[in-house]
Amino acid sequence: MTQPRKILVTSALPYANGPIHLGHLVEYIQTDIWTRFQRLRGNTCYYVCADDAHGTPIMLRARQDGISPEQLIATMQQEHEADFADFNIGFDNYYSTHSEENKAFASSIYLKLRDGGHISTRTIKQAYDPEANMFLPDRFIKGSCPKCNSPDQYGDNCEVCGATYAPTELKNPVSAVSGVTPIEKDSEQYFFKLSDFGDMLKQWLHAGHVQSEIANKLSEWLDEGLQDWDISRNAPYWGFEIPDAPGKYFYVWMDAPMGYMASFKNYCDKTGLDFDEYWNANSKTELYHFIGKDIARFHTLFWPAVLTAAELRTPTAVYCHGFLTVNGQKMSKSRGTFIKARTYLNQLSPEYLRYYYAAKLADGVDDIDLNLDDFMLRVNSDLVGKVVNIASRCAGFISRKFDGKLSSALANEALHQELVNAGDSIAEHFENRCYSKAVREIMALADKANVYIDEHKPWALAKEADRDADVHAICTQGLNMFRVLMTYLKPVLPATAEKSEAFLNTEFNWATLATPLLDHSINKFKPLMTRIEKTQLDVITETSRETMETSTPKTGALADDPVAAEIGFDDFAKVDLRIAKIIKAEHVDGADKLLQLTLDLDGETRNVFAGIKSAYAPEDLEGKLTVMVANLAPRKMRFGISEGMVLAAGPGGKDLFVLHPDEGAKAGMRIK
Ligand code: MSP
Ligand code: ZN
Repeated sequence: MTQPRKILVTSALPYANGPIHLGHLVEYIQTDIWTRFQRLRGNTCYYVCADDAHGTPIMLRARQDGISPEQLIATMQQEHEADFADFNIGFDNYYSTHSEENKAFASSIYLKLRDGGHISTRTIKQAYDPEANMFLPDRFIKGSCPKCNSPDQYGDNCEVCGATYAPTELKNPVSAVSGVTPIEKDSEQYFFKLSDFGDMLKQWLHAGHVQSEIANKLSEWLDEGLQDWDISRNAPYWGFEIPDAPGKYFYVWMDAPMGYMASFKNYCDKTGLDFDEYWNANSKTELYHFIGKDIARFHTLFWPAVLTAAELRTPTAVYCHGFLTVNGQKMSKSRGTFIKARTYLNQLSPEYLRYYYAAKLADGVDDIDLNLDDFMLRVNSDLVGKVVNIASRCAGFISRKFDGKLSSALANEALHQELVNAGDSIAEHFENRCYSKAVREIMALADKANVYIDEHKPWALAKEADRDADVHAICTQGLNMFRVLMTYLKPVLPATAEKSEAFLNTEFNWATLATPLLDHSINKFKPLMTRIEKTQLDVITETSRETMETSTPKTGALADDPVAAEIGFDDFAKVDLRIAKIIKAEHVDGADKLLQLTLDLDGETRNVFAGIKSAYAPEDLEGKLTVMVANLAPRKMRFGISEGMVLAAGPGGKDLFVLHPDEGAKAGMRIK
C-alpha cells in the first residue's frame, strides 16, 4: 500500500457582492468532485474556501444599499454558504478574507516582503473623482471607446469592439460613482517588485505546476518583462490598512489569496491540525488551487512570487478551467441564462448539474457549454434511464421474494470483475480532472449492466416455476454492478450515493470495490431520482429573465444585485396591494413568456401582461384570485400597456400562487 497523501485544496474565493451563479458552480463542482474522489481513495484531503470580502465594488455596493460593508459581507456570506451547501459542495471550512487571521497574514507577509527588499514606493498619476473624493479603479470610469466610439464603456476594455486601453484614453470619461469628469491626481503607491522573482517564476512554470496553455501564457508575460505590481490603494478603501502606511490599504488581490491560508488556519485552530505542516517552505503535503482562467495571472505569477518572498511553500499545482456558456452563448440576463444557484435549486436537484458538468469537464481551459435541452436529455437518459434503472429493476425481487437478502454467489463473476477492473482507468481520469472520460467509461459499463439484465429478464423468470435461485442470483448480480457504478459516481453524485448506500446497507469506497455484497441484507428500495421535466427548465429561464425585467435599471459597474436595497416601512406602505380577480387570460401573439390578463378590482378592470406562461395555462387562471400591485405606474411593453403587476408567479405545478375565491378573499380588497 502506498502512503495516503495529505492534500489541501482550494477553490477561488467568490466576491461578496453578488450571488453564486451557474458559472461559478463549474469551479466549485469541479473542485468538490476532486476532493471527494481523493477521500474515496483513502487520501487525507481538506477543502477550504472563503468569501472575498474586500475591494471598491463591495464598498460602493454597501454604500448604495445604505448598509455597512460588514453587514453586506455577512449577508452575502450566509447566502453563499447556503447555496454551496445545497449544491453539496463539501467544504471543510468556509471563511472570509475580512478576518483576524487574514489581517495577520496580510501584515506579516507584507513585512516579510518589505524586509526582504521587495517593496518599493513611487508616485503615480491616477484618475480621481473630485466629487466623491476618491481614486477610481478602471472599472469605475466610463466613457466612449477610443476605437469605435461606442458610448458607456468601462475604463479597461470595450464590450462592443473588444479593444483594451487605459482609462485616460476614453473619450468623455465620467466617474461611475458620481457622474463627474475625473481628474488626474498624484499619489504615492506601494509596489511589489515582481521582477525580483523572474528566475524563480521561469523555473516554476516549467516544472509541471500549471497546464500547458497557462505555461505558454506565462512565458509570454515573462518575455514581455515583469512589471512591478501595485499592491496599495488610497483611502477610502474597504480592506486592510498597510501596517507602516496609514491611509493606504492593501489592494484586494493582495490579501485575497492569503484568504486560502486564513481559512485553513481557522480550520486548524478549530480541529488541532498542524497549519505549518501544510504551508512551511519545506512542506511535504500537496496544495492545489482550482481557479477560472480569468484569474490565472494572480495565481500563477503574483501568488507564487509572494509566497516565495514570504518563505512559504508554493502550490503543487494551479488548475485552471474555462468559462461557462449557456446554450452556446455567454450567460445573459435578457435571454434568461444568467442563472443563479438559488433559481436552479428552487426547481432541480443539484445532482443533475453536478453530473452534467462532470460529463463535460476535461483538464484544459476550454469553455464548457450548458445546453439546456441536452442537459435534460443526458440526465434523463444516463442517470434515470441507465444507472438508477439497474437498481429499480432488481430491488423489488430481492425484497419481495428473498426477504431482502442477496444470494451467496454472483450469477456472472466475470462481468462483475470487468466493471471492477475498469476502476484503475476511471480513477486515473478523475485524478487528472478528465471527468468527461471517467463518465463516458462509467456509462459504457452501465450499458453493459443493462444489457445483462435485459438478456436475463428477472421479471419473466420470476413468473416461471423453479427459477427462484436464478432470479436471486441475477438480481444480486444487478445490484452488485449498481454498487460498483455508484461507487465510481460517488464523487459526482454524493446525495444519490448516500441514498444508495442506505438502500444497499453498506458504505461505498474504493478499497472494498472488488468484494461483492453476498449473503447481505439490504433495505427497501426508494426511488433515487426522477426525470427532469421541460417545464422546470422553462421556469428557471423565465425566473432568471423576470428578475431582470422587474428590477430597476443598473448603474455603471454596480451590476447584479442579490437582494434589492432594503426599504423602510414608508416605502413599503406606498405599495397598494389588492386582491384582483382574473376575468380573462389569453395568449399573446408572438410572446413566448407572456399571458395577457384582464383583472377585476371590484368594478375597475386592468390590463396586465405577466411573464407566467410557462407555469400556467390561461384556462387554469380564469376565475381565480391573485394579488396585484394596483398603484404601479403603467408601463409600455412591446405588446401593449401593462397597468400593474400580479404576484401570481410561482414554481407552477401544484404551487399555484393564486388564491381561490372561496377563502374569504374578494376582488378589490386591500392587503395590509
Ligand atoms: N474573488 C476573486 C477570486 C479570488 S481567489 C483568491 C474572483 N471572484 S469571482 O466571484 O469573480 O469568481 C470566482 C471563481 O468563479 C473564479 O475562479 C472565476 O473564474 C469563476 N467563475 C466566475 N464566473 C464564471 C463563469 N461564467 N464560468 C466559469 N467560471 C467562472 O474572481
Ligand atoms: Zn470599442
